[in-house]
Amino acid sequence: MGKVKVIAHRGASADAPENTLAAVTLAFDHGADFVEIDVRRTLDGELVVIHDPTLQRTTDVLRVFPGRARYDVAGFTLAEIRALDAGSWFGPGFAGERVPTLRAVLAALAGRAGLLLEVKDPASAPGIAGDLRSVLDAAGWLGEAPAGRLVVQSADWTFVEEFHLLLPEVPVGLLGGPPPPPEIDGAAGWAHCINPKNTKVTAALVRRVHGGGMVLWPYTVDNPRRMRELIQLGADGIITNRPALAAEVLAGSARRRFAWLRRLWPISKASR
Ligand code: G3P
Ligand code: CA
Repeated sequence: MGKVKVIAHRGASADAPENTLAAVTLAFDHGADFVEIDVRRTLDGELVVIHDPTLQRTTDVLRVFPGRARYDVAGFTLAEIRALDAGSWFGPGFAGERVPTLRAVLAALAGRAGLLLEVKDPASAPGIAGDLRSVLDAAGWLGEAPAGRLVVQSADWTFVEEFHLLLPEVPVGLLGGPPPPPEIDGAAGWAHCINPKNTKVTAALVRRVHGGGMVLWPYTVDNPRRMRELIQLGADGIITNRPALAAEVLAGSARRRFAWLRRLWPISKASR
């Protein structure tokens, strides 16, 4: 088993506004191995990083563009979205944070942490796989990319399979579910990870996923006790809003393993 990965959900989103550059940079400052983000497409075809299909919860769109009939991300241009404040809702210290483009997140991450990129509602954005390929390629994230740098996931498993066929060199993940056992077995040849809600994780699921040569990254876990349980069960990553806490829990687990080995050491030495 490799090191359990700390995956910062929407960045370090317990301490900074989710899916902003502030949350992304804080995530690697807090020890994240990967940063998870959500990607959607604007009216003019740009890829931006935002969770909800609409802008109201995480920006001041109602103040900047009052009276619009709808506030869908897909109904606004990039210039309009970039005019919004995506930080003040979280706290005054983050006033002026913007909804970042995917391009900007790739530049911010550059070698500091891996990226777990979730494509939201791909069925409502036909051709988004090709858009993603263009942006990743232009940013130098395809081709010679170091292993483990990028995983693309979606709750739309048909899309994940299509994306894999388009870009087989990019590891992909099936989010949610988890898929029924035959589908997990079927994904073994092409998927990198299975990423279910943490409450769905069982020893049998872990065995099945590992049996297929894949890894299991459950979401979203902020409780240290549950983090430890999942590590015991064999999870390969922890998707969390609190990467610093997860890094601490992992360090504690490693220390406990080491102490256990040290207790064994005099016995094995004596038995030689
Ligand atoms: O990566 C897992 C997680 O992001 C899925 O849920 O709704 O936060 O995108 P959500
Ligand atoms: Ca997500």
